[in-house]
Amino acid sequence: MHDLIKFWAVVPAAGVGKRMNADRPKQYLELAGKTVIEHTLLRLIKADVFTGVAVAISEEDPYWPELEVSTHEKIIVAAGGKERADSVLSALKSICAMASDDDWVLVHDAARPCITGSDIHFLIDSLVNDEVGGILALSSHDTLKNIQGDQIVGTLDRSHIWRALTPQMFRYGLLKNALTAAEGNPAITDEASALELLGLQPKIVEGRPDNIKITRPEDLALAQFYMEQQHD
Ligand code: CTP
Ligand code: MG
Repeated sequence: MHDLIKFWAVVPAAGVGKRMNADRPKQYLELAGKTVIEHTLLRLIKADVFTGVAVAISEEDPYWPELEVSTHEKIIVAAGGKERADSVLSALKSICAMASDDDWVLVHDAARPCITGSDIHFLIDSLVNDEVGGILALSSHDTLKNIQGDQIVGTLDRSHIWRALTPQMFRYGLLKNALTAAEGNPAITDEASALELLGLQPKIVEGRPDNIKITRPEDLALAQFYMEQQHD
């Protein structure tokens, strides 16, 4: 049966990039000769495991149709939603005629262009026999403080705190149900949190630190630096 299971990539790309404070959504800013989203999508396609890559694009987005990758045979376009979780659910629905409940979906932020084939394959190899699925994550190097206003009221036990990255890998049917059940809940900022709400416990898989999310202006230079260092 295993060979019948397919892998899909889902890429939420309908954000406005408020914190980036640029003249266009951050996924369309240029980085090392291409836009951020082109790097992301071409790297997912190059990983050579996905049957299709479903991308959620905002309906008022004039930049997407200009990109060569928008007509790539592996790309499926869905409408973006109000929040990231709405965009992911919309992309999941766009492949419902092709995907089976047992297929795996890897949800990956358009704003993480430094994703490597090695991280994608490591995540898949780590979770392919898992019941629930899981996410790439990283431990925190900094000591983490609980604050109220500008005052410290406690220190977190760092050994139990990890930072959630993407891709996040779950079964198609379970993920669609979890996001549908959580619709409108502002606490759902990643896929894992939707599954946690169902009482499930996704796994963490240690990811690479170069898989950064472009969030603020200084992140573009950092992403360019990481890309220059990557050879896989
Ligand atoms: N995203 C989306 N639909 C939304 C909001 C976000 O598809 N309604 C996508 C973004 O395009 C991005 C990913 O989710 O690829 C991660 O979100 P984030 O880094 O927060 O991007 P933005 O929401 O665009 O940035 P900001 O929060 O600074 O406005
Ligand atoms: Mg956001």
